[in-house]
Amino acid sequence: MNSAVLKGLKPAVAYVLRLRAAGDSRKALDGFTQLYRGWNLQKVGERGYSARMEHAGGGVIFRQLFEPVSCTYTYLLADPGSKEAVLIDPVLETVDRDVKLIDELGLKLKVAVNTHCHADHITGTGLLKKKLYGTKSAISRHSGAKADIMLSDGDSITFGKHCLNVRNTPGHTDGCVTLVTGDQSMAFTGDALLIRGCGRTDFQQGCSKTLYNSVHTQIFSLPGHCLIYPAHDYKGQTVSTVYEEKKFNPRLTKSLEEFVKIMANLNLPKPAKIDVAVPANLVCGLHDV
Ligand SMILES: [Fe+2]
Repeated sequence: MNSAVLKGLKPAVAYVLRLRAAGDSRKALDGFTQLYRGWNLQKVGERGYSARMEHAGGGVIFRQLFEPVSCTYTYLLADPGSKEAVLIDPVLETVDRDVKLIDELGLKLKVAVNTHCHADHITGTGLLKKKLYGTKSAISRHSGAKADIMLSDGDSITFGKHCLNVRNTPGHTDGCVTLVTGDQSMAFTGDALLIRGCGRTDFQQGCSKTLYNSVHTQIFSLPGHCLIYPAHDYKGQTVSTVYEEKKFNPRLTKSLEEFVKIMANLNLPKPAKIDVAVPANLVCGLHDV
């Protein structure tokens, strides 16, 4: 890149671009991730999304949306015929973005569902119910949280001619579920399975043995081509597959004993918002209930 252009850019951006020009793609990617997160702290209400924006296979309208403070993915799925929609893991701060998109696409939000009671952000389900009349909230009956629909293993959430099937995948929390499309082409794994990782198991009834068993029996049993869409990603990764995670997940490819050891030694800091987020999420994200 020419140096006059670099001079005009912010020094941090210029530094990242230099790394990329020098071929240091790993550091450059990390740099971009940091910059992206920094920029979006001020632009949290704007629409952040990533790949796979077109209609997914099987005629489902599908959007992957991103909230940069907690690095949460929110997923919108809808049936093009009936216009019925489901929103997975909405975040309080991005409710207006989601409502705008739902309006723009002419959809009717039927269900706003959480894959579990989150500790790192407040859910948007309560506010969505207020803004979009007729929306019902949903969460696992094992989560301890309130919602209009209490999900059990084997339940289905239908929207038009499509559905999401509920699989209990506890271990990160007692009430974690994975939502699988009817044709098993997509699985929304919450924090049970992340891309090349998994949710922590050191609070909120976490149990590494249970998580290992959940992933192996309920997620790794899906077809290899099934796309994995997690609740979070901290590196900009957007999607994986069952095949990839069975082959390359650095934790879940290990034996149970090794996995338990890895999880016991993560030494992660306490999530910044846990004391606010968990009590709020137990009541659909609304404090005034
Ligand atoms: Fe979580």
